[in-house]
Amino acid sequence: MPAKRDILVTSALPYANGPIHIGHLVEYIQTDIWVRFQKMRGHACHYVCADDAHGTPIMLRARQEGIAPEALIARVADEHQADFAEFRIGFDNYHSTHSPENRHFANLIYGRNRDKGHIVSRTITQAFDPVEGIFLPDRFIRGDCPKCGASDQYGDNCEVCGASYSPSELRNPRSAVSGAVPEQRESEHYFFRLGDFEVMLKDWTRGGSLQREVANKLDEWFEAGLQEWDISRDAPYFGFEIPDHPGKFFYVWLDAPIGYMASFQDLCNRTGLDFDHFWRPDSNAEVYHFIGKDIIYFHALFWPAMLHGAGFRTPSAIFAHGFLTVDGQKMSKSRGTFIKARTYLDHLDPEYLRYYFAAKLGPGVDDIDLNLEDFVARVNADLVGKVVNIASRCAGFISKRFAGRLADRLAEPQLIQDFVQAGESIAQAYERREFSRAVREIMVLADRANKYIDDKAPWVVAKQPGQDAELQAICSMGINLFRILIGYLTPILPRTAADAEAFLQIEPLTWDAITNPQPGAVLLGHEIAPFKPLMTRVEPARVAAMVAASREDLARAGDPAATAEAAAPVAADHLVREPIAATIDYADFAKLDLRIARILEAEAVDGADKLLRLTLDLGGETRTVFAGIRAAYDPKDLVGRLTPMVANLAPRKMRFGVSEGMVLAAGPGGSDIFLLSPDAGAEPGMRVK
Ligand code: MSP
Ligand code: ZN
Repeated sequence: MPAKRDILVTSALPYANGPIHIGHLVEYIQTDIWVRFQKMRGHACHYVCADDAHGTPIMLRARQEGIAPEALIARVADEHQADFAEFRIGFDNYHSTHSPENRHFANLIYGRNRDKGHIVSRTITQAFDPVEGIFLPDRFIRGDCPKCGASDQYGDNCEVCGASYSPSELRNPRSAVSGAVPEQRESEHYFFRLGDFEVMLKDWTRGGSLQREVANKLDEWFEAGLQEWDISRDAPYFGFEIPDHPGKFFYVWLDAPIGYMASFQDLCNRTGLDFDHFWRPDSNAEVYHFIGKDIIYFHALFWPAMLHGAGFRTPSAIFAHGFLTVDGQKMSKSRGTFIKARTYLDHLDPEYLRYYFAAKLGPGVDDIDLNLEDFVARVNADLVGKVVNIASRCAGFISKRFAGRLADRLAEPQLIQDFVQAGESIAQAYERREFSRAVREIMVLADRANKYIDDKAPWVVAKQPGQDAELQAICSMGINLFRILIGYLTPILPRTAADAEAFLQIEPLTWDAITNPQPGAVLLGHEIAPFKPLMTRVEPARVAAMVAASREDLARAGDPAATAEAAAPVAADHLVREPIAATIDYADFAKLDLRIARILEAEAVDGADKLLRLTLDLGGETRTVFAGIRAAYDPKDLVGRLTPMVANLAPRKMRFGVSEGMVLAAGPGGSDIFLLSPDAGAEPGMRVK
């Protein structure tokens, strides 16, 4: 067992203008599993979070509801915390960025950076809504795309053609808030000189604790040059006024990460923990931030730089994860896959989702897919069919025939020993956030436990006279194997584990208690309680009902989730899917010029996690096509392969270049896509019939 560590862990702070949804939960569940694991190992691990309560969208939402922003964020804070509690996200503290602690640290960090010359001011021109009397963030300007002419596009990029541009290029611009034509106005802004920190940031990056993908991203940004960061906004703004510049406010992203410190300070105030022990520059405590891949820039550049400039330690590491898709696609209201935490809780047990995410989560930034059919199958097969089943197969005999008492000695100590020894590898998997591996290894053990019971067939032994001791020994083995399994699953399934501990009549399991090789670590001559089902099967009908309920949400006007979706970061997938028609005419189909192409080159596209740039040979003619299949293929495996393609698709300008056609592939999406390799005999350029 390693020495006791002091660990501070955070999840990103959810915006206080919308509900928690299952996409968010990827992050909170991932973090919570890791934290619970650290606590089970005996480390002093503190998990803090808060609502991210500032910024224009929150100010506008409050206006729209006719309430003060303080009232809005108070209501949302209650909703968020109720959702998190039911998903058993075990925060040690949950705070708000709109708090005195956060104001204190925002002023302190700003002031120290200013005093060292890291803050400069400059006048900039920005879109202003004359009706609302506010400056407009890019996202709040809509108009016609300057490239393809599509109407009602955002001020910074077009969702139809993928072009990015500046709001001043947008045609027929309108304020998304009032509909007014925006004016251009000048205003003085304050900037953080990120470039001052280049050397320090490079050192930090090379510290070796960053994920490969994150380190690569940082290298790209270093190459592009570190830009000054605009940290001020004009009144009216819901946030903290900058102390020495009345009428100017800190941009929400300045005080958001500082909210991690504020929440921790609040915890220290309550519990007597030593704040400075964790945050002073030479601290040997560990600080980790779990975040989504969309906010790496803020956490891996601005945040360490601000901290360093203010004389605080930098984070030990940033742990970024990918985005959730449902049934292979971005969460969607119309499909009923934009599922709020609350809607999920109305229909299903949170332990199912915790398990499913764990079974899919790795240490990298790959997106993860919730396939609803697979969800039902997997939870039922693994948790109900394998794990809980072990206890239910053995407990009845122990209760009825032995008054709840387990045998005094183990029938097969070696099998127990194997289970105990597996603990080291499972612990390592948790530590490295390789949760899918942890789950796989635990399920291999569950299979062995079930095989043991199948082989020993206690239900047959039970009918044989004079075999009582044998029956008790077999079932006691089963119960002990179950105890170890549920112990290993505790970080993932806290509710089930707590119920199992009540059934086993034992103290909360620690890692040490499970893997301690001393006799006494197993239950001998111990009395257990009568068995109650620990988990019921997932009913597909409940899943369908949840999807239906999520679909209905769309109809409700003013649904806060609508704003959350609109404000959600643009997906990494720049391929826009049109709504699918129920049927098309043969005449439409006949318009497709389907050809066989040979893949000459395949390469990843920088800045687009899902795209590959393919160079295709159509029998003499070469085309460039972007395909959203990066999750499914290693580019080098594609070179030389044949694929059908739509050869007469109009060229489409994307952010990364022009795509001249489309390759055809089928599959549920994510990493499960199958490029159709035609039979031998196919030739590039050949027409597909
Ligand atoms: N308020 C900022 C974070 C500030 S941290 C100092 C924010 N909030 S958010 O509500 O939009 O997102 C909170 C976290 O949830 C982010 O890490 C984000 O990446 C994550 N996710 C939001 N939608 C997600 C998915 N669909 N899938 C996976 N994670 C998602 O960003
Ligand atoms: Zn466009």
